[in-house]
Parts: sequence; structure tokens; C-alpha cells
Amino acid sequence: MIKKPLKIGIIGAGGIMRGVHMPGWKAAEDCEVVAVCDTNREVMERFAADFGIKQTCTDFTELVQLPELDIIDIATPNRFHTPAVLAALEAGKHVLCEKPLAVTTAEVREMGEAARKAGRLLMTAQHHRYGAPAVALKRWVDSGALGEVYYARVHATRRNWLPTPPTFIAEELAGGGPCMDIGVHALDTALWLMGFPNPVRVTGTRLTNFAKGDTIPGAWGEWDRKKFTVEDFASGFVHFSNGATMVIECSWLQHQHEDEDFSARLFGKKASVQWPAGDFSTTVARTLLDGNIKPVGGLRPPHSEEIAAFADAVRHNKPSPIPVAETLKVIAILEGIYESARTGREVLLRGDDLQVPVKKAKK
Ligand SMILES: NC(=O)c1ccc[n+]([C@@H]2O[C@H](COP(=O)([O-])OP(=O)(O)OC[C@H]3O[C@@H](n4cnc5c(N)ncnc54)[C@H](O)[C@@H]3O)[C@@H](O)[C@H]2O)c1
Repeated sequence: MIKKPLKIGIIGAGGIMRGVHMPGWKAAEDCEVVAVCDTNREVMERFAADFGIKQTCTDFTELVQLPELDIIDIATPNRFHTPAVLAALEAGKHVLCEKPLAVTTAEVREMGEAARKAGRLLMTAQHHRYGAPAVALKRWVDSGALGEVYYARVHATRRNWLPTPPTFIAEELAGGGPCMDIGVHALDTALWLMGFPNPVRVTGTRLTNFAKGDTIPGAWGEWDRKKFTVEDFASGFVHFSNGATMVIECSWLQHQHEDEDFSARLFGKKASVQWPAGDFSTTVARTLLDGNIKPVGGLRPPHSEEIAAFADAVRHNKPSPIPVAETLKVIAILEGIYESARTGREVLLRGDDLQVPVKKAKK
């Protein structure tokens, strides 16, 4: 157990770090953010001044070497997660990193291997698992109430909430559109509730229907059409080794009634249930029964719960609350959707091989 207050260093001082990670660190017991790094000096200086952080730099390789740091919290654009995570682990720090941990399974595997070698924790910030509806559903599902899940319908679709900064819409920064940005949340939550079955085959589509044109006005304002190089819609069909299948749909712009449909519907042999609504349907004594699972009460905001869980795991030498092996399955499916869309073929995932660390073939 680590007795002293945990010292945290931050890489990437943008919107999510300021808006939810900092309140999370502030609320966490005995944790102190003492250093910040951002390649944008102005952003870094404003952040340091606003939060009273004394140690600053614009190069993360400097930040990770600070001996007093226990944890590095990373929220750079997706494509810059891997080098920062690897540098932090190699410097012997525990790492919390925003989603998607990386946009390829090769990078996720490399990070998992680096964490194992360093003997440090690595956790993907999948905060939806810490939301009150998900916590309640997980308890209910783990009690066996749902039975074996044979089908899942996963949605992360928005009518016109397209995030406008280059961080999200430029392929070289984001590595993907709504699939990587919001699909990753709904998919992670669904797989977690399902107990992380092994994905073995994926087909998918990746389309840009509206983002290059002017049909649907963005609720967050205008974006640079020329810089838009990711998709605005993706869909996938996944087979798991236990025979279950899943449909996943992700969009930032489409003609739909709801502002946002962020949901997973799981069909089990005893019941079906919908996250986050909590609605379930079952049959008892040949009687059709519908009900609703109430969210767990008394929780802090999900990002704060997630940060507290990570700090607790670091302090008490527990395993990572969100292990890399789980993130690997999530990214394998998203990468598979893109690969299938690119090649026009089904992608085989070798689900039995989706483990960290990967065994090296004997020579
Ligand atoms: N979990 C959530 O709800 C949620 C919400 C939004 C964003 N995110 C994730 O958080 C990450 C950041 O998103 P954001 O909205 O804060 O973006 P942002 O553009 O507001 O901030 C990113 C910051 O990283 C800095 N940066 C870029 N490269 C860097 C590097 N190599 N070293 C140090 N700093 C660097 C940029 O200057 C910028 O200040 C993304 O991975 C995104 O997917 C998660």
C-alpha cells in the first residue's frame, strides 16, 4: 500500500482534462495534480494558472521523468496516446489514458506488454462503466438474471452532434470518427455487461454521408470540411466464439428522431435488458413481465468514480479496474469494422488470441 498522497502528472490539458478529470482528481482522496504538459504552451500555461500547478512543460518525455510522480493521466488526441503511454510506463509510472486507448490492436498489445514489463497499472478511461445505470445493470446481470446473452444491439448515434475540433475529425489526430469516439463507449459497456466474450469475426461499413456537405447543421457549430477525413457513420456485425452476435451502429450526423441514442440492448436466454434505461423484459411462469432497474444511488459523476477507482487500485496494489485485455477486444472490433469496410471482406479476429501479453511463437 502507498501511504503518501499520490502525485499526478497530466499530459494533454484540453477540454476533457479541464472539464472532468480535474474535478475527479480534486474529489479523489489524497491525490494531488502537481505537473502538466501540453504541446500548446498557451493552453498549458492557462491550465497551470487556473489549477495552481507549479511544474509545467511542453514535452511529455520530460514530464514522465519527474521522480515524484506516481500516476500519469493522458488526454491527448487519440493518435498521440501510444507514445505518451509507453513513455510513462517505461518511466515506471501508473497510467490512466482516455479512450480509445489506441486505434490499432498492435498498439494496445504493445502498451499491455509495456505495462506488464514495468509492473505498473494501465487503465482506459471508460467512464460509462462507472455511471449509476451501468453499475446497477452490472449487478443485476452478474446475478444471473439475464442468462446467456445471444444477441446485442449497440447504438452510439447522434442526430447532429458532430465534435468540431481537429482532435476528432482529422484522421491523423483521431484515427477514426464516431466509431472510435463514441462507439468505443457503448461497445465497451455492452461487452462488459456481457462478460467480455471473445469476438471472432467482424464485417462493417464506414461512410461519410453528410459531413462533407451542408445538409445537416451541426449542433456544436461549423467544422472545417477540408479537414474532415474520418467517417460520420459506421456499422458492424460481430460474431463471438460462444455463438452470440452483435450489431453496432455509430454516427455523428444522421436523420433520426433522437438527439442521441447511446444504448445497448442485450438479449439473454432468461431476459433482455436495455442500458442505460434499465428496462427489462422476461417471462415468469409463462407470464410476460416487464420491469425497470433503478440506477444505483449515491455515486459521484462517472469520471470521478473512475478516477477514484484507479487511485484506489494504485494505492492498494490491486489489478487495473479496466484491464488492457478487455480494451484489446473493444479495439479489435472497431479496427475490424474499419478493415472490413476498407477491404469489403469479413475480418477474422482470432478471438482466442486476444490476450495480453501475446505469447511469442517458438522459433
Ligand atoms: N471520456 C469522454 O467522455 C471524452 C470526452 C471527450 C474527449 N475524450 C478523449 O480525450 C482525448 C482528448 O480530447 P479533448 O476533447 O480533451 O481534446 P482537446 O483537443 O480539447 O485537447 C487535447 C489537448 O492535447 C494537447 N496535445 C496534443 N498532442 C500532445 C502531445 N503530444 N503532448 C501533450 N499534449 C498534446 C493539445 O494541445 C490539446 O490541448 C481524446 O482521446 C478524446 O477521445 C474523452
